[in-house]
This record gives sequence, C-alpha cells and structure tokens, in this order.
Amino acid sequence: MADTRILLLGNAGSEALNKILGKPGRTMTRIEDAEQFVKAAPDHDVVVLDAVPPPRTVADLCRELSALPDLVEVPILAITSTDDVEERIRLLEAGADDVMIRPIDERELDARVEALDLRHRRSKELRPSTLVAATRRPGRRLIALYSPKGGVGTTTVAVNVALAIGARMPDAVAVVDLTPMAGHVATHLDIKPKLTVGDLMRDSQGMISPEILRTTYLTKDARGIQVLAGSPGPSTAPLMSGEDATRTLEGLLTAVPNVVVDLGSHLDDRVVASLEAADDVVIVVTPDFPALKATYSFLEYLSEAGPRIAEPTIVVNEVYALQTLTPGDIENALGRRVAIRIPYDPLLYLRAANQGTPVFASAPTSQPARRYDQLAAILLGEDAPTAASESRRRGLAGIFGRS
Ligand SMILES: Nc1ncnc2c1ncn2[C@@H]1O[C@H](COP(=O)(O)OP(=O)(O)OP(=O)(O)O)[C@@H](O)[C@H]1O
Ligand SMILES: [Mg+2]
Repeated sequence: MADTRILLLGNAGSEALNKILGKPGRTMTRIEDAEQFVKAAPDHDVVVLDAVPPPRTVADLCRELSALPDLVEVPILAITSTDDVEERIRLLEAGADDVMIRPIDERELDARVEALDLRHRRSKELRPSTLVAATRRPGRRLIALYSPKGGVGTTTVAVNVALAIGARMPDAVAVVDLTPMAGHVATHLDIKPKLTVGDLMRDSQGMISPEILRTTYLTKDARGIQVLAGSPGPSTAPLMSGEDATRTLEGLLTAVPNVVVDLGSHLDDRVVASLEAADDVVIVVTPDFPALKATYSFLEYLSEAGPRIAEPTIVVNEVYALQTLTPGDIENALGRRVAIRIPYDPLLYLRAANQGTPVFASAPTSQPARRYDQLAAILLGEDAPTAASESRRRGLAGIFGRS
C-alpha cells in the first residue's frame, strides 16, 4: 500500500508531530506558509494544522480548506492549545474533521491520523459517479428513511438530509414524520405545529388535497423546508393503514416536489406502503451487532418475501467514539455497499439536539453537514455511489463469530 501522504502546517518545533506523522508508512511534508499549504493540500491524504501564521487562525484555515472543492474528501486534523469546548465546536463548525489539544500524546495522535487516513481511503473508493436516477412521478421524489432498529439516528439523518435538499432547492422539500410515536421530527427542528399527522388522519379530504395540505397541515420552517409533524404523544398516535400512508404521501408529493419521510423503526402497514411508494429508500444503521443483525434480517426479508422496493441506500451513522468495525466489516456483515458514513460528533449533535437546530443548519461547513450534502446529492441522483447495489453477501457470522 502506498505511503499515507500527510501535509503539516507548522514549524519544526513539535517532536511528537515529526515522529508520528513521519513514521514508516507515512510521508510527511511540512510547510510554514499558509498560501503554499493550501495549494499543496489536495495532493495529500490527511492535512494537519499545527502552527498557523497570523493573522489567520486555525479556524480561518479550516474554513478556507473546507470551501475548496478539491479538498472535500481530505480530512483535516486541527491542533489547538485551549481545552475549551467552545473552541472545539468552533473548529468542528469551521470544517475540521478532528481536533487535538496540546500537549500531544503520541499514541493518540497516531490513532487519530490512522482513523482519518482510513476514512479518506474509504471515501475515495466510494467516489461517486454521475447517474441520473429516475423517479416514479416525473419531477417528484419521495425519500423514505427507515431503520429496523430504533435509536440509530434515523430522525437525525431525515431532518438533516431534508435541510440539505432544501439548501439546494429552496421551498421544494417537505419532511414528514410518519413514525407512530412522539413526533421527533418537530422536536429536532424545534417547531410546534398546531396540526399533526394525527389530525390529518381524521381529515380524509385534507389527506388527498395538495391545497389543504399546503395551507393547513404543512408548517414552513424558517430554514427553508416544510414540515408535517408526527403525533405529539403515543395517546394521540393515529392508527394509519397502508392506504392512508400512500394517500398522504401522494398528496404531499403533489403539494411539494421532494418529500422526505421519517418512518422510524417499526414495521407495519404504513411503513411497508411508504417504502413501496418511495423513489429512494434509506436504511440507517449504526456500527454495532444489534443494528447490523436487525438490518441484515430486514434485507433478507426484502429479498425473500418482502415488498418490492427501490434498492436501499445504506447509511452508516457513526454514533460511537470508538471505531471498532471498519467500513469493510460492515459491508461484509450486511452483504451490501455502504453509500455514505456520517461521522461521530458528540458536541455538534448534543448542541443541535438541545437547541433544536440540526447540524446541517447550525454548523453548515462541518464534516457531518458536508456528508449530509453528499447524501442529498446521492439521493437526488446527482451522484450515485459506484456499485451501490453490488452484492457482497457473506453474512454476519464471519465478522463477529456470531450468527
Ligand atoms: N453521528 C452522531 N454522532 C453523535 N450523536 C448522534 C449522531 N447521530 C445521532 N446522534 C444523536 O443520537 C440521538 C438519537 O438520534 P435520533 O433521534 O435521530 O434517533 P432515531 O433512530 O430517530 O431514534 P428513535 O428510534 O427513537 O426514533 C440524538 O440525540 C442525536 O443527536
Ligand atoms: Mg426517530
């Protein structure tokens, strides 16, 4: 395997950096001038920002690098002296993939550079090719997000991808919460609509009328998307048949050209009907055995007796600080290609959850936001991952020694 090419912005001062970034298997180039550094960055696998010459700051440079199309995939490791959460958030928001605090621990630096390098190699393998995906209703697109296991980030991915599509096509996307309980989409967006899916289910005229849906049930969010909220609590959750779900989604698609629907993690008639109606089916999975097993079983069910649905787009949501399974492990376990991985980021997500502003809106140049933008491109058919549907059936047993 070729050496990992690392570009360091800094002076010769740090022994840990020189030793770890230049160890066998890595080739380090050190540059002290920021302009030259930016020019050289695209030819590298990982860039490290140590000493940034004034007047620029590390955050300025993260922003500058993130804005360059050639550098979208090149991971940025920012090094800072302040052990301050706000500073970390600022750097992540500015586009850093990872942040380390001085003094640098050699083993930690080694592990983080390794992880960033793996991520870069992987994203190169998954480099998209252009392919225009057809939809069932010309000019209209229904994107359904589902996970056979709860708590994996399905709602998070749904609202962020809706915002990413909204950023490309203002006023042309609605996000709909068809989960049976608790209306998390509205919570993630911090909106309190008067009417929800629960009310709509009692309004058979409203369900099929784009005009009524637009004027009465869809709430315009300040960030450029429309929202149809789910039932606020279990007691108000409507019993929705498959026909109701199809009718509602068809009505919404007439009102708004792109509809993103959060289907949660139960498998009932509404979910099956929504999956069947969708142009894109996104399955969210976390890198752990329970989620992978549930997803594997769901994919088996689809291939054996289940509903006929669009080829699923698999999104791995990295919700753990430690990466114990490689993307290859996950693909082997599922027997499918992974379309995209959403990076772990406790700080940005915690803040997003507590403030009701999804990461795509609160930190638009951050790594997770850029991944959501890429996912939007894949789903819209601008970029399709190569061999997205290639089968790699090997099953779970080989990976975990479990079945
Ligand atoms: N990549 C990530 N890194 C860190 N935290 C994350 C990440 N993705 C999601 N989270 C957090 O995980 C929590 C659960 O996310 P979310 O509500 O989207 O899951 P869900 O699959 O929709 O759950 P449910 O099954 O309850 O509907 C949220 O607090 C969210 O902020
Ligand atoms: Mg949810």
